[in-house]
Amino acid sequence: MDFESFAASPRITTMIKLDHTHVLAAFHRYRTDAPHWRKAAIVNTICAALEIHAQLEEEIFYPALRAANPTAITLDKSVPEHDAMRESIAKLRATEPDSTAYDDTLMELMREVLHHVADEETILLPMAEQSLGHDLRRLGARMNTRRAQLVASRPAELAINSAGAFPVLTLSLVGAAALALVSALRARTRPPRHFQ
Ligand SMILES: [Fe+2]
Ligand SMILES: [Fe+2]
Repeated sequence: MDFESFAASPRITTMIKLDHTHVLAAFHRYRTDAPHWRKAAIVNTICAALEIHAQLEEEIFYPALRAANPTAITLDKSVPEHDAMRESIAKLRATEPDSTAYDDTLMELMREVLHHVADEETILLPMAEQSLGHDLRRLGARMNTRRAQLVASRPAELAINSAGAFPVLTLSLVGAAALALVSALRARTRPPRHFQ
């Protein structure tokens, strides 16, 4: 890819934030009293989106951040937190959508995601903006290319469907309430003076 292609790519930090916004909006759409097929459709989309996002971060974002910040303590927790989410995802897939355990596990996954996203948005993304400045668009272009490969390998889960799940790969409009949730999360925590 040439320099002009990089220049046209969004920064990797912008793409990560957008993924977070989409997935938090999808959580917000989940209703415990919805029909089980609709709950399952939303959950399937959330799970696939989280798995792809985590893989992209682990392959592209975290290694670049680690190389520039070898002693970053917050980064030590990132992959273990992804693994905890993967366990909740596995639990969800093994649970009947019409059971209360399904709702409980989804809430557990949402708490894990909120905590993890807060750390990324208040510590890791500002750290990346500061330490990877020149590389942010090149990394964004890499993430785009890799995302296309990962999505192509699981088209059925990520198809925009009529069941009420969200179009994970597009700049969809999200509900005002979901946006409020995201901005509250982002406003609550400020970038620390010293990154760890
Ligand atoms: Fe993330
Ligand atoms: Fe992450």
